[in-house]
Amino acid sequence: MAFPQQRLRRLRTTSMLRSLVQETHLQTTQFIYPLFVCEGEGIKREISSMPGVFQWSIDLLVMECKEVSQLGIPGVILFGIPNEKDSCGSDAIHSHGIIQRAIRAIKAELPQLLVITDVCMCEYTSHGHCGILEGEEVDNDKTIPYLVKQAIIHAQCGADIIAPSDMMDGRVGAIRKGLDENGFSHIPIMAYSAKYASSFYGPFREAAQSTPQFGDRKSYQMNPANSQEALREIALDIEEGADFIMVKPALSYLDIIQRASTTFNIPIVAYNVSGEYAMIKAAAQLGWLDEKKAMEEMLLSIKRAGAAIIITYFAKDIATILAKR
Ligand code: PBG
Repeated sequence: MAFPQQRLRRLRTTSMLRSLVQETHLQTTQFIYPLFVCEGEGIKREISSMPGVFQWSIDLLVMECKEVSQLGIPGVILFGIPNEKDSCGSDAIHSHGIIQRAIRAIKAELPQLLVITDVCMCEYTSHGHCGILEGEEVDNDKTIPYLVKQAIIHAQCGADIIAPSDMMDGRVGAIRKGLDENGFSHIPIMAYSAKYASSFYGPFREAAQSTPQFGDRKSYQMNPANSQEALREIALDIEEGADFIMVKPALSYLDIIQRASTTFNIPIVAYNVSGEYAMIKAAAQLGWLDEKKAMEEMLLSIKRAGAAIIITYFAKDIATILAKR
């Protein structure tokens, strides 16, 4: 049967019909909100390239988490900005480090809120790279023990999920073993598995003050031209014990999200990154895009591609909209 018997427009006639046949839905319980934590007290400092996103001192961070939780958002992912950075990222592995104190403070007030921690060294190293340097190269195997230590200390402070974003080979297996041996076999790993060397992280690096002091991240993050390799990365992380796998960024990598979701039977997380947020904000500020509509369309497309969970700086905005429906 073809036209004129077949008319796909019939199911688009009214909003009731359209919502009856809607295939993809956004749900607040599947968003994670990223938060930046800095030293000090009473600090709420806006990031210039990310309007509406702030660096928070721990006292105000806890209040912000209350708001996030009241909106029905199940979890936050934390990024730390320490005052002191050194070549081996010491702040990341001390019990008094910025993230460690932040986790304890949040969990003391909001035990039910999922606290996810980013395990990586770039926010803590003076050189801004994601691991330990050997000359000008990041040394994979020297970096791993630091990541394991960081993961264990996060778990000790009360983190609910560990999310390694460094892209070192073998780190998921090593972190799994470290967590298991220290009484944390129940703590899941959300692996940034297919993380690309992307220019869309620009605003994040301003927010986290983690721009590499020399070179780039191409020797550890993936080449944007590759997708077969993403499937290998994901397969390895699953083998090593990942409980969730992540594709990052989201928008330019919807094909990767789609392939991952049809190939693997595991929750797929998509990171709707800082540059994707900044583009919509900037265009909206210029009056070139309708911010809310563009945001919702973007998030729907990520979900439609196959993501079960979305990490997004828009989490509070979309949760507010969904709550009113
Ligand atoms: C840390 C990390 C980065 C992001 C998340 N974790 C930056 C990077 O790899 O340079 C980017 C997130 C974003 O852009 O929103 N390695």
